[in-house]
Amino acid sequence: MAAMMGVRVSSGARSARSGHSRVSRSSRPSRVSVVASSAGHLSSSDLTFKGKPASSTCVVVLGPTGYIGKYTTRELIARGYDVVAISRSKSGIGGAGDEQKVRDDLPGATVVFGDATDKDSLKKAFQDIGKPVDAVVCCLASRTGGVEDSWLVDYQATRNGLDVGLEFGMSHYVLLSAICVQKPDLVFQKAKLKFEQELVDASSASDGKLTYSIVRPTAFFKSLAGQVEVVRGGGPYVMFGNGELCACKPISERDLAAFISNGVDDETYYNKILPIGGPGEALTPKQQGAILFEKFGIEKPFYVTPPIQIMDVVIKGLDAVAGWFPENKSLEDAAEFGKIGRYYAAESMLVLDETTGDYDANATPSFGNDTLEAFFEAAVKDPEVLKAQALGDQAVFGVGKGEEV
Ligand SMILES: NC(=O)c1ccc[n+]([C@@H]2O[C@H](COP(=O)([O-])OP(=O)(O)OC[C@H]3O[C@@H](n4cnc5c(N)ncnc54)[C@H](OP(=O)(O)O)[C@@H]3O)[C@@H](O)[C@H]2O)c1
Repeated sequence: MAAMMGVRVSSGARSARSGHSRVSRSSRPSRVSVVASSAGHLSSSDLTFKGKPASSTCVVVLGPTGYIGKYTTRELIARGYDVVAISRSKSGIGGAGDEQKVRDDLPGATVVFGDATDKDSLKKAFQDIGKPVDAVVCCLASRTGGVEDSWLVDYQATRNGLDVGLEFGMSHYVLLSAICVQKPDLVFQKAKLKFEQELVDASSASDGKLTYSIVRPTAFFKSLAGQVEVVRGGGPYVMFGNGELCACKPISERDLAAFISNGVDDETYYNKILPIGGPGEALTPKQQGAILFEKFGIEKPFYVTPPIQIMDVVIKGLDAVAGWFPENKSLEDAAEFGKIGRYYAAESMLVLDETTGDYDANATPSFGNDTLEAFFEAAVKDPEVLKAQALGDQAVFGVGKGEEV
């Protein structure tokens, strides 16, 4: 396993003039700064990729229709790159989006259709681009976390992106991974980790020709937003144990898109594994619940705190049933979903200190400006804010499933 080489990255202060966030990309004398608009878009005329102007740098995005992929694609376009989005013909949550929706969602991108899980189809998509590719940004992920789908997408499709990209001239690969691969108990984590290692190995064997940036974020806002509507409706905030079993530094999709895009144009991000969280202190579920009740003005918070062992009992049952019917893949997936739920109820999304085995909030770098508190405040005032936070098939027990907007 590649050694974790985390960097501390500060996104800098708000610009007094524009109220926009300044993403400072320091350390080389020639480095430029780019200014993010409140919509997360950047304008810059002099960004470069390995010495080439952004406008003549072809960046392919795989998974451009996902929660993070969409923002990342828009961010790269705003930075002036020549962006190609490779999408399935039916995309989005439940495959509800058609080809026109992808084009409408990603103005400024060249959209090419193909299936990243099928190498020949992906090759055809790269051929359709009609020019060499400089970088690939991979935001692919299984939409379910199921066993076969994780190997198919988090490993195989992601690997196809590397192999096919190299055939078409790619010299840099940015991978959206996850901080939880540090402790790989789940199938999707093992699939991601396998590819991470292969990417590092391919770079090592390339004599400097292939570089990479592996981005391992902590929790997304969408993963923490599921209980907003429950609390609005007078329901409880559910957290396991004492509400302090796990913690994270939530990062917004806008801030993460900026960080991933830095992985393209900032060489200080190259050949590194980059754990990354949002601004501020780490938050436990109990603290997140307290913020939410406070934003709703609820003076007597209503918590439900089942013991984590309940999940162990459920998982044991699901595992047993899946074992009786090994050919039934949906039972195998159901057991895996139970494990996913338990994992996130108990494990922190923070850097893991390998020597002590403890999670370390201070060692988890922060980036960006969007806080969970501000997000909850906005969601409390306007439920529409939650529409962009749909979990789709990643929703556990249907909480936060939502519909894509
Ligand atoms: N949720 C969290 O809090 C969290 C925290 C840290 C890291 N992460 C990691 O972040 C990553 C991305 O998350 P996300 O929420 O942006 O994912 P997402 O919204 O589910 O998007 C997944 C993307 O992958 C594509 N995809 C899925 N299955 C495919 C298939 N069979 N063939 C081709 N394309 C396929 C989707 O395309 P379609 O639109 O065509 O389906 C979509 O573009 C995941 O790896 C996750 O582990 C998540």
